[in-house]
Amino acid sequence: MVPAGPARVADPPLGPRRVTPSGARSRRRVALRQAMLDSTGHRGPYSSTLMARVFSGIQPTGDMQLGNYLGAVRSWVEDQHVADCLFCIVDLHALTEEQGPAVLRARTLRKATELLACGLDPDVCTLFVQSHVASHTQLAWLMECTASFGELRRMTQFKDKSDGREGVRVGLFTYPCLMAADILLYDTDRVPVGDDQRQHLELARDLAVRWNSRYGDTFTVPEAVFPKTGARVMDLQDPTSKMSKSRGTPQGRIDVFEDPAAITRKVMRAVTDAGADVRYDPAAKPGVSNLLELLAVATGSTPTAVAGDYHQYGALKTDTAAAIVELLAPLRERVAELDGDPGFVHEVIAKGAATAATVAEAVLSRAQRAVGLLER
Ligand code: AMP
Ligand code: TRP
Repeated sequence: MVPAGPARVADPPLGPRRVTPSGARSRRRVALRQAMLDSTGHRGPYSSTLMARVFSGIQPTGDMQLGNYLGAVRSWVEDQHVADCLFCIVDLHALTEEQGPAVLRARTLRKATELLACGLDPDVCTLFVQSHVASHTQLAWLMECTASFGELRRMTQFKDKSDGREGVRVGLFTYPCLMAADILLYDTDRVPVGDDQRQHLELARDLAVRWNSRYGDTFTVPEAVFPKTGARVMDLQDPTSKMSKSRGTPQGRIDVFEDPAAITRKVMRAVTDAGADVRYDPAAKPGVSNLLELLAVATGSTPTAVAGDYHQYGALKTDTAAAIVELLAPLRERVAELDGDPGFVHEVIAKGAATAATVAEAVLSRAQRAVGLLER
């Protein structure tokens, strides 16, 4: 038997001491949080000891596409008003595949700009760049020494992306350990992500539980949160593959900041299925079901409910295109403004890194002590 490690020490000075939320505790927390919201619904980061902490990340690997927005970022914008939120541009994760130095640098700043245009408000959430907080790579090593080879080998994203190639980067293999570190460093309660991250989140939870049982209560065990609709937006040209900013063709992908005419053209040319009936059946009718999901999410309805309004593919496409254009129009306006003010975006991420580092360093040192690293 491994002796139980010490109880948690050195909690982040800006945040509450966190333990795994049990059902009752988390319901009580939510009720208290609601009661404490001010009239505008805004709260500064870490201002309440009762708010749940939310963390999520996005890679700076290409322009933001509709799947990113509907699967993840839209939830982040809502969460920032009711939780202590940290959102991270994971530039280190992007290095698992070649980006090119100048491209990576430009895309990292652009991703921050895009996230602000989507509605992240630096007055109520923390937006930062992963490589600006050194604790991420430091905790990642401890996670690599917690995860097993077999566990990482089973990750479907690794299997898909490596495709058995010997030359694949080791970072692609250990990627989920860095991701677990990202999450556990912030005593995260909830992680809003798209469906493709399900397995990585399961691993992060397993690692937290394993660590806590070996070395004593150190990490909060995070919960993954997926949107009801839009958790897996499919490629318009290949509706059996997910829409991706780095894979597939430009015709299959809608970029969030793309011009309305291009969006309309892509939706009108989306691949549909055999048979002319409009019904929500992702297995039998993936193309039509994807359009129904997009229309539902853009209009705040459900795919099955919107399906009842259509008898022809043409009308469904016209209305889906119009709804997406309308949903994205304000974001497009804001990105144009922010593009003209890179100084502001730099300021936001500098402030974000400082806030994030304070929390991360405290949790990292808690973990280092728990595992037996001698203090300096
Ligand atoms: P990534 O671009 O891979 O860094 O993904 C950032 C976030 O967007 C993650 O939470 C993903 O799960 C989510 N996401 C990416 N593509 C899609 C998609 N096609 N549908 C829904 N969510 C997605
Ligand atoms: N792996 C995630 C993706 O590709 C990005 C990511 C990195 C992330 N670290 C994270 C998401 C932590 C949520 C929490 O989409």
